[in-house]
Amino acid sequence: MNIIFKQITEDNIDADILIIPLFENPSTQLYSDIDKLIDGLIQRVIESKEFTGKAQQLLQLHVSGIKAGRIILIGLGVKTKLTAEDLRRSGAKAFTFIEGQNLQHAAMSLTAFNDIKSFKARFSPIDYFIEGGLLSLYDFNRYKTEKPAAKKIGFNNLTLIGESKNFEIDKISIIAEAASLARDLANTPSNEMTPSILAQNAMNIANDRIKVKVLDKAEVEGLGMGAFIAVSKGSNEPLKFIIIEYSEGTGKPIALIGKSITFDSGGISIKPAQGMEQMKYDMSGGAAVIAAIKAADKLSLKMNIIGILPATENLSGGSATRPGDIVKSITGKTIEIINTDAEGRLILADGIGYSIKYYKPKYIIDIATLTGACSLALGNEAIAMMGNDQQLMEMIKQASVETHERVWQMPLYSEFAEYLKSDAADIKNTSGKDGSLVTAAWFLKEFAGTTKWAHLDIASTAWSTKETHYLKKGATGIGTRLLIEFLTIAAN
Ligand code: BES
Ligand code: MN
Ligand code: ZN
Repeated sequence: MNIIFKQITEDNIDADILIIPLFENPSTQLYSDIDKLIDGLIQRVIESKEFTGKAQQLLQLHVSGIKAGRIILIGLGVKTKLTAEDLRRSGAKAFTFIEGQNLQHAAMSLTAFNDIKSFKARFSPIDYFIEGGLLSLYDFNRYKTEKPAAKKIGFNNLTLIGESKNFEIDKISIIAEAASLARDLANTPSNEMTPSILAQNAMNIANDRIKVKVLDKAEVEGLGMGAFIAVSKGSNEPLKFIIIEYSEGTGKPIALIGKSITFDSGGISIKPAQGMEQMKYDMSGGAAVIAAIKAADKLSLKMNIIGILPATENLSGGSATRPGDIVKSITGKTIEIINTDAEGRLILADGIGYSIKYYKPKYIIDIATLTGACSLALGNEAIAMMGNDQQLMEMIKQASVETHERVWQMPLYSEFAEYLKSDAADIKNTSGKDGSLVTAAWFLKEFAGTTKWAHLDIASTAWSTKETHYLKKGATGIGTRLLIEFLTIAAN
């Protein structure tokens, strides 16, 4: 999307459509100048209550008398109760409507955004409106040989018109693009998103500030990552241990560990066939980490970040790991693998262990589609968060409020240690159904040791089965915007 700013009046803009955002119960005076040119249409729809300005209400008017042939009025809701999320949703409503009509060039009047008080967030209201709009235009039709009609032209020009330029569209565009990158990576089917291809995608973001190293099986074996190796054994696709280093500042790095199972069949503890095709998105954590680091670089955040993506398939070939097998992780801890479908925690254990051993990070955040139980607890509405450091988790909560990528903290009671006691090894990887959301996190905690760590389970939010506001069906890119905002907070 090409977005520019012009200081002209609404009647002079040569666009296909003019977006006029309005708060609830708008004054008919606000647009009296252009209303004179279009027969008082705006005044009429406001007075007749056809348009009230309720959040996300949309009304299109076909007009003559000004250059643009169509106007859409879009509701922003009550001005004093304005939230970033309402703005995103209103932006999404307007943008998808324009795209659906196959229009290419829209203009948006910024008048309603003048003198908004009591709005506290990182960006300005205009930015959130645009963010929601940009997020909503995402689609994934790479594999459709016929593009949907609405995509043939593409809504790709937006002119913002107003008096002053109090917004940061470049930044919000970087953030929306990052979310789209994560969605692309996770939507791509496993035959075209193997560990090697994921590593290629990580290498694509390399530059003078971002170094990407990819370790192969022999190197990973040499480092003693027996848990990660165990998961990869049933597949012919070579594993990749992807390390992304972003260096722009001093001090200890923040480590982001992204679960990158490019396909999860469950392994020998095989999953039911129903719904198994969805397990291509089991690398959504890794996708969010790549995208967030790319954005951190574009935003020039002053800090050091390490991204770690243990990438492999979890299949059930002839040399696959068996239930009951015992392996040794990079930390030296031995693990009895009770269930090969609890593979995420195995690869993360080595990812976390590696990050501590080689980088001594200030914080570790792991992000993973880790448990089916996540959706039992929270539906599809929130990321489950657990960790060993309340202050770190409060920072993540703050980022969550800003981005509306909601997190909900779950407890890590010391009693959970009992659940994972193994008769044969130091720890076992599962303990049955009870508390499986939290015991998965407890398992990871054992590998984080004393390093400040938080775990984000995105299993129930990484994929959407329906279209909502600014999300399409499919991968949501969840965690990307959350991590970018967290990094922004941590950099200051
Ligand atoms: N990748 C799955 C979790 C998952 C399930 C993600 C559904 C997205 C949607 C994970 O590897 C898994 O299989 N977890 C098991 C663990 C169990 C065997 C202890 C689960 O939660 O069922
Ligand atoms: Mn699994
Ligand atoms: Zn998995």
